[in-house]
Amino acid sequence: MKDKIQDVLNTVENFTADTVEELESFRIKYMSKKGIIPALFGEFKNVAPEARKEVGMALNELKNKTQEKLNVLRRQLTEKTASGEQQDMDLTLPVNFSRQGTRHPLSVVRRQILDIFARIGFTVSEGPEIEDDWHNFSALNFREEHPARDMQDTFFVDDKDEKIVLRTHTSSVQVRVMEHQQPPIRTVSPGRVFRNEAISARAHCIFHQIEGLYVDHNVSFADLKQTLYYFAREFFGEHTKIRFRPSYFPFTEPSAEMDISCNICGGKGCNICKYTGWVEILGCGMVDPQVLDNCNINSEVYTGFAFGMGIERITMLKYQINDLRLFFENDLRFLDQFHAAY
Ligand code: DAH
Repeated sequence: MKDKIQDVLNTVENFTADTVEELESFRIKYMSKKGIIPALFGEFKNVAPEARKEVGMALNELKNKTQEKLNVLRRQLTEKTASGEQQDMDLTLPVNFSRQGTRHPLSVVRRQILDIFARIGFTVSEGPEIEDDWHNFSALNFREEHPARDMQDTFFVDDKDEKIVLRTHTSSVQVRVMEHQQPPIRTVSPGRVFRNEAISARAHCIFHQIEGLYVDHNVSFADLKQTLYYFAREFFGEHTKIRFRPSYFPFTEPSAEMDISCNICGGKGCNICKYTGWVEILGCGMVDPQVLDNCNINSEVYTGFAFGMGIERITMLKYQINDLRLFFENDLRFLDQFHAAY
């Protein structure tokens, strides 16, 4: 028995390992439950009583030395790996890139727009996607029989009772903000909106808008124009021109639609601007005094302007995307092109 132990001890002491794998098979061979050393301990019960003390000491020594050997070799191997010395490592190989995600182009543009308005003091506010009739329509001057309600192809949440809707625009957030806050109000409200439209390259039943609202003493149409001019130049470039066309919205008076000079052809005419040199980007106007009063803001004291734009539309113009459906398909060949955008 003593000789056996001595033999094993010799082998252990002469052992060296070049790789972690070699070291691991050594550990399994000698130290695991069914390994050589536990087996020797198992044989201990057969040792004659008078030899037990000596054999026991030898066994313990063997076990300790083996464990020590394992520790030393393991430490040496980790140091080697860390300093790149291990022979089977080829440092000239390219690293294994893990695929990195990108922000969705709509998120990129939403952030850019919110940033631009944050620089002139607009806070961000949000409201629910499931809205009641008051916030989506009535408070905004859409009366029960108002034809503009049809214009918006509303999804009703409950067929029988047309009081709860999926919001058709983010103008509903205007109402919520004004109900909870007295002027000065300067806020932009991004969000998803829903309309019952057939899906095509130019329309979708889900899309995104950003609403803007500014209410204070003496807010005028000139403030509206200057604010939107600043936005257009920041977003589309400093040579961008703007123009306003009279329009109609129930909640603003007067109302306008704003065009920018086509950023693709610089106003010379191309198929994006349908050879007019201009593209429409948003609706806007002075908040109708009735809307202020509906929200408990004194229209004798305060005036305000509002505007609303579609994020998809602006993204399509900025990145020359010609099909709205691309935003919703999650095709990585499309999304991967926005790596550089922040
Ligand atoms: N809510 C309008 C729409 O979805 C957009 C809009 C127009 C918002 C004029 C406004 C505004 O705040 O003043 O078509």
